[in-house]
Amino acid sequence: MKVLIIGSGGREHVLAWKIKQSPLVKKLYCAPGNGGISEIAECVDISVDDIPALLQFAKEKQIDLTVVGPEAPLVAGIVDAFERKKLKIFGPSKEAAQLEGSKVFAKEFMYEWNIPTANFQKFSDIDEAEEYLRKVSYPVVVKADGLAAGKGVVVCQNFMEAVKAVDEIMAQKIFKEAGDQIVIEECLEGEEVSILAISDGEEYCLLESSQDHKRIFDDDVGPNTGGMGAYCPAPILTEKLYKTIENRIIEPTIRGMQKNGMPFKGVLYAGLMITAEGPMVLEFNVRFGDPEAQAILPRMKGDMVELILASCDGRINEIELEWDKRSCVCVVMSSGGYPGRYEKGKEIFGLKEAERDDDTFVFHAGTKKEAGRIVTSGGRVLGVTSLGHGIEKAIEQAYKAVDKISFDRCFFRRDIGSKAFKWVSRRSQVTR
Ligand code: AMP
Ligand code: GLY
Repeated sequence: MKVLIIGSGGREHVLAWKIKQSPLVKKLYCAPGNGGISEIAECVDISVDDIPALLQFAKEKQIDLTVVGPEAPLVAGIVDAFERKKLKIFGPSKEAAQLEGSKVFAKEFMYEWNIPTANFQKFSDIDEAEEYLRKVSYPVVVKADGLAAGKGVVVCQNFMEAVKAVDEIMAQKIFKEAGDQIVIEECLEGEEVSILAISDGEEYCLLESSQDHKRIFDDDVGPNTGGMGAYCPAPILTEKLYKTIENRIIEPTIRGMQKNGMPFKGVLYAGLMITAEGPMVLEFNVRFGDPEAQAILPRMKGDMVELILASCDGRINEIELEWDKRSCVCVVMSSGGYPGRYEKGKEIFGLKEAERDDDTFVFHAGTKKEAGRIVTSGGRVLGVTSLGHGIEKAIEQAYKAVDKISFDRCFFRRDIGSKAFKWVSRRSQVTR
């Protein structure tokens, strides 16, 4: 088969790495890819947003399967465009992708199907939103309705902060039309965890749990980022909690979407808060998480292409997933200054030394190849990932590798995975 992966981050590198292992794959392309992906796939210089050019490329090269990494092309309808031309593509339709593309859609869907989530109000009028903010108790969470590259959510401690957030989103339009509507919701307390499922529209299979680290600094301090590291599994989840999430959240979501006439195919990512009242949905994404994918996929056994084809062809009930018993930890190395301004073009040293250990993989994000060297080209640069027996071991291995890599003004968190310790020490580690 000829496979095309769309995207250029660490998520797409781990997808390429896993897909490349399939005996079904003869040729692998990635648009646009990055420095690391170019070692295992042919990178083509087409942007993830240029759906006509991607479609043209897939037709010309007779691509048998396209796998979409990021949300923007899914929300813009790439799956519908490919399927109209009878090209096989993994992911949700434009309608189903609204679960991520519109917070209002997702919240109303959850209310309709009684899926646990924070109480909310939606607003398209700024004065009404401000009026409401005078009456609520704090903290509250203000969310732009549409896609905002992970920056459209503000947790506000008081009225002043909330009014500022609403003003930036609705009046200054910092996220453009994504801020035509907003959601204001109650702030939930607890620990976050992500559960991903692969669905064919009717049935689904669950992947192992994972946990992201969204803030830039240790101890979850500082601004939100795309994610500074992840681990899999998340030992906070007991078997019972995992079952509750399946029964109260995943199953009703797949069923509800099907009953509403927009069956969900692809990766359903439920971002959850484990509250005192049980798991509640913070957000849905309609694709693999980044860096969660880097922590999940190295533990997945078997042929990933078989799994993807089963989703595309409505055969997901044939899939029995098996998992490596070890834990996996991914530490993101970023450019100094990220998530604000940062410099690019810094040469990266030590990549080969870091990967010498068989259970360590360095997935590239913002890198490119330049005159035989690998240089930085983005905010999140590398996802240094290790498997280990128990999370402590995986963390130790990953940081050993991180310490071998260097580039000018490189930054990373030192505490990835340590949140898991309190749960591991409370009970022997569970894989589910
Ligand atoms: P979202 O894009 O909706 O996941 O929001 C990004 C981050 O904002 C989440 O990962 C949480 O850390 C935080 N967040 C979102 N909604 C809430 C909420 N209702 N209560 C507390 N934190 C939230
Ligand atoms: N790491 C969070 C996300 O992929 O949305």
